[in-house]
Amino acid sequence: MKKTVLLLMMMTFAWMAKAEDGHQLWLRYQPVNKAKVTGPECMAAQELKTYYQGESVHLVIDPAMEEDAYRIKVKEEKGKKVKEISAKNEIGLLYGAYELLRRQGDRETGSQDITSKPFYKLRILNHWDNLNGTIERGYAGLSIFWKGKEGGKTRRGHTIFVEDPDQPIDVELIKEYARANASIGINGTVLNNVNASPKMLSAVYINKVKQYADILRPYGIKVYLSVNFASPMTIPAKGFNGGKPVKTADPLNAQVKAWWKAKAKEIYAVIPDFGGFLVKANSEGQPGPFDYKRTHADGANMLADAVKPFGGIIMWRSFVYGAAHPGEDRVKQAVSEFKDLDGKFRDNVILQSKNGPLDFQPREPYAPIFDNIHQTKQMAELQITQEYLGQSRHLVYLAPMWREFFGFVEPSRLVGIAGVANIGLDRNWCGHHFSQANWYAFGRLAWDPTLTSEQIAQEWLVSTFGPAGDSSRLTGDRFLSGCNASANNLTGTCPLSGLLSVMLRSREACVDYMMPIGLHHIFAFDEHYGPEPDGYNPHVPYEWCPVYYHQANKDSIGFDRTHTGSNATAQYREPYCQLYDDINTCPERYLLWFHRVPWTYRLKSGRTVLEEMAFHYDRGVKEVEDFIRVWNEAKPFIDDQRWQEVDARLQHQLDNAKEWRSTCLNYFGSFTRP
Ligand code: GCU
Repeated sequence: MKKTVLLLMMMTFAWMAKAEDGHQLWLRYQPVNKAKVTGPECMAAQELKTYYQGESVHLVIDPAMEEDAYRIKVKEEKGKKVKEISAKNEIGLLYGAYELLRRQGDRETGSQDITSKPFYKLRILNHWDNLNGTIERGYAGLSIFWKGKEGGKTRRGHTIFVEDPDQPIDVELIKEYARANASIGINGTVLNNVNASPKMLSAVYINKVKQYADILRPYGIKVYLSVNFASPMTIPAKGFNGGKPVKTADPLNAQVKAWWKAKAKEIYAVIPDFGGFLVKANSEGQPGPFDYKRTHADGANMLADAVKPFGGIIMWRSFVYGAAHPGEDRVKQAVSEFKDLDGKFRDNVILQSKNGPLDFQPREPYAPIFDNIHQTKQMAELQITQEYLGQSRHLVYLAPMWREFFGFVEPSRLVGIAGVANIGLDRNWCGHHFSQANWYAFGRLAWDPTLTSEQIAQEWLVSTFGPAGDSSRLTGDRFLSGCNASANNLTGTCPLSGLLSVMLRSREACVDYMMPIGLHHIFAFDEHYGPEPDGYNPHVPYEWCPVYYHQANKDSIGFDRTHTGSNATAQYREPYCQLYDDINTCPERYLLWFHRVPWTYRLKSGRTVLEEMAFHYDRGVKEVEDFIRVWNEAKPFIDDQRWQEVDARLQHQLDNAKEWRSTCLNYFGSFTRP
């Protein structure tokens, strides 16, 4: 008997531990099977029947409504409150259902009607997943889409993965992925790396993509693919030239055009709602139209014509450097290459640009390409995976960075948002529990870029650590005790307010302990984790070397991008052009990005450059110490496994922040020492 009780207890604990391993993300609802749901039998109905704690919901299809929009009304029926969700189709109903579920944990809808529609039609994740299962800049395990097999070991003993299209698809996992995305409004996914293998377009993989499309469709998610511009040279297209490839990839060549048309037909025959292609061309070694002395417009339009009859789009990346303008200041090259092509693109081409002109640094000024393109559709590419922000080892909440970007680039200038995903096979999907918040925030901002970082963080914290029913009830309920979450008034002994503050401060802390006052790209080579300010390697392009970016010598430091230097400031619209060009008005957070200053230069604080650096590095480290203090205080309110896992990472983050401080201050200090 005793044994059975013990066993039962152990099983319960094991189950509880499993239930709070982060796999459920922000969707920790426990089945209540209570609500009566009328209307079409659809995914929304299923979700509400299972998880909604209210009594009844009517689902209504209203063809007059806009795509993806929903309306939630509160009605009185026989003295009881009933919710009614209307939408144009089942996907809109699903979005409405998730809104209702989101609010039951936090701010109940009360008696107010809600209407909501997405700001962007294109809300797309970009997976940098390779067909062999590895992920470029992936920090949460291997790919959820592509599985390779072991193909030997490297000299250092690491496993080499090779492609294996015979590996089965994990249907359940992909459904969970789809559900998570639908719950935050994401409606598209690019399934493979922008550094694309031509094999992606082979028949065997197209068949796999079809299977993914079929799983994702009921959740309102379209699939897209990254394509290698030289694919026609190695891969057969159905119905084209007896399966023979073409000898060139020149976009003006008739055979090449025909190949892409045949390939589009082949894809759309099995995936009629296929979204289109994402292209990285003539950048970092990728093939592109420039190889044939053609322009980006020639390349993009050729692809656009191939997918146009099927309603597809081409997302053409502006992240190009090194090919057409070698030697030019790297942050200027996108404008140099694309400005004159504005207006020459087909209407189903969208230019996709990173938020900053360099490469997803913890802080960059906005990318001036958004000021220079007026007649071509544009999308912003944000990076959810924290390549340069501590990867999955640091707690850094990115919404404040993305909101900062929207402060410079009006959301209405864009037709869509892409986010480089941080998802992998790790049990908690993102490696760090708090990195889930970045996936969440990306979706919420793509739906509504006016949401504040604070609103989103609060929603996420409550749904991720708050009451979820059953197993987590205890810690979850206590998590909210003392918080008046519904009134947005977080006072008292509420762990929520402390954690909210940590999240909101975390990005600035990261800038402080990595690269304050406009320093940039001083990361360890290639892996981009940890400091390497002295990085220089004569065998790689100079613009990959940290020393190129800070240009420190015994007199001065910083990159002169004003009219006396590379004149990158001239690419900005007014008032930013003048503002950044003039050292007296340039915000100090961009000082060394735009200006070269002597070590004796004094900032507004009265401190010299090195003193100011020291101030920021110190402040960043202290912030992480404080994050740890808050996390310790939150311990009684958080389930054990997740608390421990975050704690271990915070300790590491602190060590790493200290390493940044000592390495950078030592190195930069060496220039000023006699
Ligand atoms: C960065 C990143 C690369 C990636 C590239 C891109 O440079 O380090 O891994 O391929 O961006 O966005 O294309």
